[in-house]
Amino acid sequence: MVKILPSLLAADFTALGEDIGKMEDAGADIFHLDIMDGQFVPNISYGLPVAAAIAKKASIPLDVHLMTQDPDQFIPEFAEMGVDMVSFHIEATPHPHRVMQLIQSHGMKAGIVLNPHTPADSLSYLLREVDYVLVMTVNPGFGGQKFIASCVDKIKALDGMRKKHGYDFEIEVDGGINDETAGICIEAGAGLLVSGSHLFSSPDWKQAVGALKG
Ligand code: DX5
Ligand code: ZN
Repeated sequence: MVKILPSLLAADFTALGEDIGKMEDAGADIFHLDIMDGQFVPNISYGLPVAAAIAKKASIPLDVHLMTQDPDQFIPEFAEMGVDMVSFHIEATPHPHRVMQLIQSHGMKAGIVLNPHTPADSLSYLLREVDYVLVMTVNPGFGGQKFIASCVDKIKALDGMRKKHGYDFEIEVDGGINDETAGICIEAGAGLLVSGSHLFSSPDWKQAVGALKG
């Protein structure tokens, strides 16, 4: 069953509470929160106080996507505010296994994120224990970019590894997801679809959420 994760980076920050309520009414499954530090990616989004406000308002689960240099920072804080899933970039730490364990030890699902150039193979020894893999389908840092088609092969490779070994991690995709690219990613094996600019700019959010599920 495919799940839709609106990226709140594309919400109206002057009416965040309203957009959260409207997206929940439209059938969104999980909210995706993009945390950027201006170091790992060339942009800064929002931090802990805004994430805590979102957590207070939202009634569906929260998925935090850390685009930060030191992903082991702030894990207890996210757990404390009620976040359900936290993902971090494998390119951001020499100790991905340790960060994964840290997230899980706080009762949250741990996800590992791959930039467009990072091969699926880099996760071989993590796939048994990881809860989800986030395949970036754009370069992280900004909403509204074009889907990078070569990432589809990576989704297929991960799906193949999952089937071969009988693993149960989920595959999430993030970046340039719209009606057309959603179908391609689902077909390749993705079950969690993040969408920012496409969803929030749609005239009818309920229709748009439904259409992404195919
Ligand atoms: C990009 C973020 C995405 C972003 C997606 O660095 O990780 O979550 O909000 O935006 P769209 O769907 O517009 O590509
Ligand atoms: Zn994201």
